[in-house]
Amino acid sequence: MERSLTMELVRVTEAAALASARWMGKGKKEEADDAATTAMRKVFDTIPMKGRVVIGEGERDEAPMLYIGERLGSGDGPEVDIAVDPLEGTDIVALGVWNALAVLAVTDRGKMLHAPDMYMDKIAVGPEAVGKIDINAPVKDNLEAVAKAKNKDVEDVVVTVLHRERHSRIIEDIREAGARIKLIPAGDVAAAINTAFDHTGVDMLLGIGGAPEGVLAAVGLKCLGGELQGKLVPQNDEEYQRCLKMGIDDVSRVLTMEDLCGGDDAIFTATGVTDGELLKGVQFKGSKGTTETVVMRAKSGTVRFIDGNHSLQKKPNLVMKDS
Ligand code: FBP
Repeated sequence: MERSLTMELVRVTEAAALASARWMGKGKKEEADDAATTAMRKVFDTIPMKGRVVIGEGERDEAPMLYIGERLGSGDGPEVDIAVDPLEGTDIVALGVWNALAVLAVTDRGKMLHAPDMYMDKIAVGPEAVGKIDINAPVKDNLEAVAKAKNKDVEDVVVTVLHRERHSRIIEDIREAGARIKLIPAGDVAAAINTAFDHTGVDMLLGIGGAPEGVLAAVGLKCLGGELQGKLVPQNDEEYQRCLKMGIDDVSRVLTMEDLCGGDDAIFTATGVTDGELLKGVQFKGSKGTTETVVMRAKSGTVRFIDGNHSLQKKPNLVMKDS
C-alpha cells in the first residue's frame, strides 16, 4: 500500500463524522447513519486506489451504498480491501452520549477476514498484555495476566463491557475478581482501541459485540501493537451456515490477529463523532466544524492524531442542516 493513502483516508472518516454529528441527540439513528454513509461514499471515489468493500453497510440488495463487494476509489492505484463503519454507534449519536466514531480499515487485497454480520465474542488488550490473554480462559485468569503484564493489581484493572443482559456472568466474574468495570451502552470498537492508550484508563475489552466491529478493532490494534482474539457466535442455523461458507467449520475456533487481519500492512482511521476517552467529537460553531482523528499504519507503526478545522461554507454538502 502506498503511504499517501493514509492521509487520503483521513478525509473519508472526517466527512462521515461531520455529516452524522449534526444528528447528535436528535433520536434519529437511521438519519445519522445515512448521513455518514453518504458522505463517506462521496469522498472515497476521489482517492487513487482500486478498493473493494469487504465489510460494509450490508449485502448489495440491502444497502444502496458501501455494500459488500462495492468497488471504491478512482480505479488507479493499489488493490485494497476496505472495512467501513460510517457510524459506529448509531444509538450513541441518537442519544448524544460517548464514543461514536466514523471508522474504516484498509489492507492489501485478501488480508482481512470477511466477517459476516453476526456476533463475535472478543477479548482485546493493548501492547503490554499481548500474548498474555486467552479468550478460552476464565475471566479471573485473564484479569490476573493483564494485571501482571501491566504491573498493577487486579483491583486496578479496568474492563470495558457492553451493558447487555448476555454479559451478566462476565460482569459477575469481573466483580468477584475485584477488578473495575466500565459498562458502555454501545461502541466496542472505541472500547477495544482505548486499551492501547494508557490515558483512557481502560485495560481490557471483554464480551460479545458485532463481528464486523471485531475486525475493525483488530486492524486498529494491529497498528498499535495490541491484540484481539475473537470467536464467532452464530445465533441461528442461517448464521451457522454462513460461517461454514466462509470456511470456518468449527465456530468455536479462536480467530487470532493473523486470521482477522493478516499481512504486514494495514491502515486504520477513526474520527470522533461524539466525545470519547480517545477522541473529541465534532464541534460546530458558525461556519466551522472541528474534528479529531486518529490514523495509523501497521507497517510503519506511526500513530497520528489530526485536528481538522473545516469550513462548512466551502463544503456545505458534507453537513445535513435539517432534521
Ligand atoms: P451500531 O453502530 O450498528 O449501532 O452498533 C454499535 C454496537 O454497539 C457495536 O459497537 C457493537 O459491536 C454492537 O453494536 C453490539 O451489538 P448489540 O447492540 O446487538 O449488543
